[in-house]
This record gives sequence, structure tokens and C-alpha cells, in this order.
Amino acid sequence: MSPQRPHLPNQDVESVLPHDVNQARAGNGNGNGNGNGNGNGQARRNGNGGGSATDAGPAVADRSIGSLLAQTRNLGAEQVERILRHQRETGSRFGEAAIALGLASADDVMFALAQQFHYPYAPEERRRANPELVALNQPFGVQAESLRAIRSQLMMRLFNEGQPRRAIAVVSPDSGDGKTFFAANLAVVLAQLGGRTLVVDADLRHPRQHEVFGIGNASGLSGILTGRTEARVIQQVPGVANLFVLPVGVTPPNPLELVERPAFGLLMRELLTKFDHVVVDTPAACYGSDSAVIAARCGAALVVARRNKARVATLQDLVANLAETPAALAGVVYNEF
Ligand SMILES: Nc1ncnc2c1ncn2[C@@H]1O[C@H](COP(=O)(O)OP(=O)(O)OP(=O)(O)O)[C@@H](O)[C@H]1O
Ligand SMILES: [Mg+2]
Repeated sequence: MSPQRPHLPNQDVESVLPHDVNQARAGNGNGNGNGNGNGNGQARRNGNGGGSATDAGPAVADRSIGSLLAQTRNLGAEQVERILRHQRETGSRFGEAAIALGLASADDVMFALAQQFHYPYAPEERRRANPELVALNQPFGVQAESLRAIRSQLMMRLFNEGQPRRAIAVVSPDSGDGKTFFAANLAVVLAQLGGRTLVVDADLRHPRQHEVFGIGNASGLSGILTGRTEARVIQQVPGVANLFVLPVGVTPPNPLELVERPAFGLLMRELLTKFDHVVVDTPAACYGSDSAVIAARCGAALVVARRNKARVATLQDLVANLAETPAALAGVVYNEF
């Protein structure tokens, strides 16, 4: 018997990953999974959900704000010339001149700057399609700022050198507390650090991550756990080269049994060798012990408590349940909305 070598039923985890993930993390057990100067991590405007990061096209690092703005706003040569003239006359920056002439908005300039700095930022059409991704849609807003503060805390508490690698299960007492919203946006800010980040939708009761990210949900975690052969079920988030989602797929009739199977723990271990950060969405604790079981397999749990709604006694029960698992309690996030 060799208990250390994880195997999933009928399937190797390599086969469920997009190509570039399989190639990516070899020999890189900590920290940043890319940073190889080929444009990974940049905001890409042509993602299609199933594509590979290798078709990213030319890196944006050496593109000027002018050329990025001209592309975003489809500016012609004559308009660019007008902006340049105004820029010379007023001694302003290209973006400021474009705004002054009404040829670009402040938002366009921010979007271009985000591209220059390799900072994932959703273009306008994506913002309308995925309004819940506030960290991607308004990366300079209050919510994104709070998410980054939480990210810093997590980095200090969970991801120190020498600590075992852990996935983070996002748990809460009730439906509607904001687990799905928070898990998705936490993953975005983790991905903005540059490492490969995966959201696993382990809410096999009411899965919603596919909706939040606007990706397909034909197959996913439930298929893997039942041993069905599901190729490339982990999907890349359009526009964020290093962010991936494993949706649920078919909603199963036996959600608790599926996450209790050894296959789930083995899958999490395999995924932690492929991704720098793994964030796992769970069903509300009021539905059963799924979330505690999932947290135990992840190694860490983060509790979401909805402000002015969560009851202290319920939160205490949830924390007491988690304390009986090997999961480290990373903290409690008060979600106010
Ligand atoms: N901080 C927030 N700001 C704005 N909207 C939020 C926030 N948190 C949650 N929401 C919204 O509240 C609703 C419920 O949130 P969500 O689906 O994340 O809850 P949940 O805890 O995952 O519920 P369930 O247990 O049923 O899956 C969603 O429409 C979500 O967009
Ligand atoms: Mg949810």
C-alpha cells in the first residue's frame, strides 16, 4: 500500500487542466507561478474562456498609454495628432489631453494604465456582464481596497514560508451571507498578485461561481468526484490570464457524500501543486456539514458573517465545528452590503 501517492478515480488531475497550467508550475512550489516576462498577468481583451495563456499576443509592457488608449477608443491618426498637439500646448500627459478633448474618459485612462502595469481590470462590456466581480470591475474602489487588506492578512497568516500549502474554504452560517461573492473577489485580488489562482466551486447544492464569472457549467467538480472523464473542466477567466475556475457541473443528488469521498481531498492536494492559491466556495453551514468537511480537506477556513444578520451563537457553533477539523481558522470577515 502506498498512501502517499494520490490518485483520483479513473482520472489524473492533469487531464482536467487547461494546457498552460500543466506546463506552468513545474518546480515552483511557492509564490509566483509566472513572471517570465511573456505578458502573463496582463489584462487581455480577447479571452474566450477556453483559450490558453500562450496565445496572449504581444506583451503590453512596452506599449505607451497613447497606443493603448488609441486602441481602446479606436482613435484615428488625426485624433491622436490633435491629442498630441493639445499635450504639447498645455504640457499635460497624453491621457489628460485626451480627456480634456473629450476623446477618452477617465475610466479609459485607468484601464490603459492598468494594462501598462499588468493589473487585471475588466473592460466596460465585461463589467456589465459580470457585475459581481467588483475587484476586477472597480479595482480602485472601496470594496477592492477592503479585499486587498484581507488578502494581506491572509498572506501573513496562511502563506508564510515553511507553512504547509493550504486551500481556503469560504464558509458561513446562512445562505445569502456573501460566500460566493467574497470567494470570487478574493480570488481576483489573489490573482492580481501574479500567482496562479483557482476558484473551486464546492457548493454542490446551489452552485453559482459559473454565473459570477460568466463561464460554462456543463461539467466540473461533481463529474471529477464521481470518476467521470471530464477533460479541461478548469476554465480560464477571460481577461485574467492567471485566474481559473472549476465549476460544479451537474448538480448532484448526494452533495455531502461526494465531498466526503477521499477523491475530494486528493483532488485538493493535486490542485495545490498546480496553483499558488486555491479558494473554495461552500454551501451554507445551515444545509449540513458539507462546509466543515470541505474546510477539513482544504486546510484553512475563512468565515463570512453578514453584518447585522449573523447571530453570535450561530457563529460560535460554526467556529466550534471548524475547531474539530484540522482546518486552520484564518479569520472572520464582516460582510456589509
Ligand atoms: N459585499 C457585497 N456587496 C454587494 N453585494 C454583495 C456583497 N456580498 C454579497 N452580495 C450579494 O448578495 C447576494 C448573495 O450573495 P452570495 O450568493 O455570495 O451569498 P452566499 O453566501 O454564497 O449564499 P448561498 O449560501 O446561498 O450560496 C448576491 O447577489 C451577491 O452579489
Ligand atoms: Mg454561494
